[in-house]
Amino acid sequence: MTKANLSLNGTDYEFNVIVGSEGEVGVDFSTLRKTANAIAYDPAFGNTGSCSSEITFINGEKGILRYRGYAIEDLAENATFEEVMYLLVKGELPTADELKSFKGQLAEHAQIPDALIKQYQALPDGLHPMAALSSIMVSLSGYYPTTGNDDEDIVRLLAKMKAFVALGYRESKGEAFVQSKNGANYIADFVEMMFGKTTPALEQAFDQLLILHADHEQNCSASTVRMVGSSQANLYASIAAGVNALWGPLHGGANQKVIEMLEMIQNDDGDASKYLDKAKDKSDAFRLMGFGHRVYKNFDPRAKIIKVAADEVLDDLGIDDDETLDIAKALEKAALEDPYFKDRKLYPNVDFYSGIIYRALGIPTGMFTVMFALGRLPGWIAQWKEWREEPKSRIHRPRQIYTGATERKVPPITER
Ligand code: CMC
Repeated sequence: MTKANLSLNGTDYEFNVIVGSEGEVGVDFSTLRKTANAIAYDPAFGNTGSCSSEITFINGEKGILRYRGYAIEDLAENATFEEVMYLLVKGELPTADELKSFKGQLAEHAQIPDALIKQYQALPDGLHPMAALSSIMVSLSGYYPTTGNDDEDIVRLLAKMKAFVALGYRESKGEAFVQSKNGANYIADFVEMMFGKTTPALEQAFDQLLILHADHEQNCSASTVRMVGSSQANLYASIAAGVNALWGPLHGGANQKVIEMLEMIQNDDGDASKYLDKAKDKSDAFRLMGFGHRVYKNFDPRAKIIKVAADEVLDDLGIDDDETLDIAKALEKAALEDPYFKDRKLYPNVDFYSGIIYRALGIPTGMFTVMFALGRLPGWIAQWKEWREEPKSRIHRPRQIYTGATERKVPPITER
């Protein structure tokens, strides 16, 4: 095994080097504090591997994303979301028999109790749908106390999630919720619960969107799910934490912010270049939403697929002139030619075009990130499960470098 050496205050230390199945190299610093009485300082964890994982591989320089070895392009073209859920959570694509049985389980658990619907309806008017989803998620532990059998809890949650999303959508439209009628066909059932009818084009669009969002290795929400799960909080509490992390505008909340930004440009004078200048101005907090990624430094493979899907969906819906899409395309073109974005390797990410599709389908902007959460659920579950099944798992507990005041005495109040 290769070793890495560190010289600190005149003493040499040796650390093991670990190499992943795709050749990624990591220095194992798990003994650093014990041996050298120092910690690895890496704010925002850009250089920190928090675990080893067999679930998802990303090569940000080459724009590669694979779930359990299968390229995202291949899965988006040749698999269904049900198969991808199974792949992420169980480790392999299902055989025909396994898929039949999995679909049966999804059907069995697809409905949600009336009490939960009433609970959703009792939430304050105007509450963001991500806050509503998180509160429903965490209260599931009351409706379905965990059984001790993770597989049973997992399939129940996978089956019910689409009902929570459809419930949020119907509530936001002031329409009555419709229970699952066709739970064995996940996507068709979901589309019907949302819109009251389904078409092959709608099913294909949702299947693809959900597959593209299904996992993304140790991102903010997945790491949160692992972190909360590491305290042995139950599945629902861990996933609710992931929902909250996803909500932020720098993560999944970006899809809502992209549309709000495009509409702002449209309502201004449609001039994208003004906003490009704002995004480059360091004294202005404005960022080009849907641009840039911590890991992708070439292109986001999900954005490539979604861009094509956006054109197809608009075509299918007979929308041949969409000003928001035109502004998005003009903004993308201008940014890709601009030295600021080129130098920093800032490209459109998955959220840049997904909002255009959701908007065309009549989904309110506040629901966009909930759609992302529906896709991401199997990924969060797979990450949670992998941690649970890792024999060496311990509670996550980072260290810090303290930079505050050194010890001092509490002065009397009159002297402060
Ligand atoms: N607009 C303008 N400048 C940007 C942007 C942007 N969208 N993104 C990064 N930069 C600049 C940033 O100011 C910095 O410049 P400098 O080196 O001069 O200080 C440089 O690019 C590096 O940025 P960073 O903030 O250090 O990058 P990060 O890896 O910490 O952040 C990011 C990644 C996705 C949070 C960031 O690119 C961003 O805020 N993008 C907009 C929000 C967004 O679209 N988020 C969705 C991410 S994809 C969905 C998901 O997986 O969650």
